[in-house]
Amino acid sequence: SFEVELRRSGATMTVPPDRTILEVVREAVPEAMSSCEEGFCGTCETKVLEGIPEHHDTILSPAEREKGKTMMICVGRSKTPRLVLDL
Ligand code: FES
Repeated sequence: SFEVELRRSGATMTVPPDRTILEVVREAVPEAMSSCEEGFCGTCETKVLEGIPEHHDTILSPAEREKGKTMMICVGRSKTPRLVLDL
């Protein structure tokens, strides 16, 4: 598991292996937008402020993946113990 800090909302929560970041985020931000929830539509794209995302979407380019400044939180996870999101 890893932690996500939602910087604008001021919440920090734990994402266990069996839940998505989106599911966990919705506990603090019920209006978080999504559509496909499978990593191909781009609706849930979220800015990453700190930490290194682990991408599992099929939208971002190799350059965007490398930069790690944005991610699809419906399928993405974290390579670092903590991820700070612009939510
Ligand atoms: Fe479609 Fe996340 S909801 S990419």
